[in-house]
Amino acid sequence: MTKTFRLAVGALTAISVACVAFAHGDVTPQPVNTEALPDVGEEWLIENPYRVEEVGLEVWQKAIEIGASGYNQNCARCHGLEVVSGGLAPDLRFIEAEEYGDEWYMERFIHGYTQNGVTRMPAFGELLGQKAAWAIRTYVETRPDDVQMEEVSPDLTVIRDQLLAGDADVEAVVNSLTEIAGGIGTLSGAPVADSVAYRAANILTADDTAMKRAAEVLTIGLSAAN
Ligand code: HEC
Repeated sequence: MTKTFRLAVGALTAISVACVAFAHGDVTPQPVNTEALPDVGEEWLIENPYRVEEVGLEVWQKAIEIGASGYNQNCARCHGLEVVSGGLAPDLRFIEAEEYGDEWYMERFIHGYTQNGVTRMPAFGELLGQKAAWAIRTYVETRPDDVQMEEVSPDLTVIRDQLLAGDADVEAVVNSLTEIAGGIGTLSGAPVADSVAYRAANILTADDTAMKRAAEVLTIGLSAAN
């Protein structure tokens, strides 16, 4: 073995050791900016205060947006991109979206999980705080069922192409999107799935000239589904 080759192998080994440490929770939680969300007090709640039926559409969407960012920075490396677990840690989409599931979620979020002295999941409670916790919870519980999303992706592609062509009948498109969105559920039992069909319908309802933006949102969802 030449010296440079041996050095290269040494460096690779060091990198894989670093990755293993990374996968086992030896990482610093990344702060989440939650200023835009309503305060929920100091004491830890046992039920998600940011559900759509509690706070309305706008705050709910904000919670999902902030939660997505918090999730991607702090949880995705173990629990999977888009909350679809790759097997390293449990799939969080299945935790029931009611008090029982919330309590379990918060127990893990606050304290993390240690097994035989090894941190399998870091504790996030004190570092990220309660608003970030519930924002991430809102994002996680509203992920659309990926199998159902795949089923509607041909229909969404047709609608996306109509919107891009710029000659779509916006009212008809909103109706189709709303119907498709209504057929997409969550795995947590949360009543509304934050699907791209739902998002695009909301965008066009608020502004019937926003065809490009709605098409972009559909495109992002379609590429995630594939
Ligand atoms: C370093 C890897 C790692 C990171 C990062 C991580 N987790 Fe975990 N998490 C785990 C493991 C491993 C378990 C399984 C522990 C057990 O057996 O209960 C787990 C379990 C959970 C559970 C219980 C799931 C269930 O079905 O029982 C919740 C809730 C949870 N994590 C939420 C989060 C959230 C929210 C974040 C980000 C803020 C996060 N985790 C970040 C590794 C991680």
